[in-house]
Amino acid sequence: MAFELVRRGLNLILVGRNPEKLKQVTGELRAEVPTAELVSIVFDLSNDIPDGIQRLEKAIERLDVGILVNNAAASYAVPKCLHEVDEEMYTELVKVNMDALTEITRVVLLRMLKKKKGAIVNVGSGSSVIAPSYPMFTVYAGTKASLHHEYKEKGIDVQCQVPSYIVTKMVPDKRRSFFNSAPEEYALPAVRAIGFGTTVLPYWRHSIQCYFAKLAPESILNEWLLRSAIKRREQYPA
Ligand SMILES: NC(=O)c1ccc[n+]([C@@H]2O[C@H](COP(=O)([O-])OP(=O)(O)OC[C@H]3O[C@@H](n4cnc5c(N)ncnc54)[C@H](OP(=O)(O)O)[C@@H]3O)[C@@H](O)[C@H]2O)c1
Repeated sequence: MAFELVRRGLNLILVGRNPEKLKQVTGELRAEVPTAELVSIVFDLSNDIPDGIQRLEKAIERLDVGILVNNAAASYAVPKCLHEVDEEMYTELVKVNMDALTEITRVVLLRMLKKKKGAIVNVGSGSSVIAPSYPMFTVYAGTKASLHHEYKEKGIDVQCQVPSYIVTKMVPDKRRSFFNSAPEEYALPAVRAIGFGTTVLPYWRHSIQCYFAKLAPESILNEWLLRSAIKRREQYPA
């Protein structure tokens, strides 16, 4: 999404925990659009959130943030029942997917409210929308539930994108298929969808998948998802 946004002439503030990766991505973005103004902030969202927030606030003090994209998230690659999710992992998911996201949103919202404009995109997950439940990923699905719009009247568009499977670092099965899309395929429709709808599936293949999923009786879909998760765990043990 960063590449799609920068191609459209936006300047970016990149937030990430890995300084090397930030440097590399900044270099690639600069190579693509040399005129883009890029700022990067090292912030481990699972670590000291108040400290990161303070540095973020300082960095954006004099900047006009038009769009906030909450994309970072933690998950577990191997399916786990709730009691199998150890405390460290649970804490990481809650901190990254909820605490940090909420704090960052709050900081940016306060500025957007003053300007009476802005857009916030929360990259949620189809796991909390397409299927009635997401067996063996309940902690992840719970932390990805959509945040709804309270700010429309104030000129701020809050959107939750709920993509289905995208073949990225987060997922264990890297095989592409009709529904398992590449991040590059998702990025363009994701950016185009900003401003259109509150809970959206930007990518048409995911919409087809959702359509068929909704036709299936919940009990069958739940059973199928549970069996798939168990199979996946056998294929990709921890
Ligand atoms: N892949 C899918 O099938 C799928 C489906 C539905 C929704 N999503 C959502 O899509 C979004 C992007 O995920 P992805 O699939 O692109 O996975 P990914 O490649 O693992 O990307 C996750 C991003 O979050 C960052 N991150 C994780 N923990 C962090 C922390 N403690 N501090 C700062 N940054 C942290 C990662 O940084 P590092 O590079 O440093 O690890 C990475 O940039 C997520 O919100 C995810 O829930 C993905």
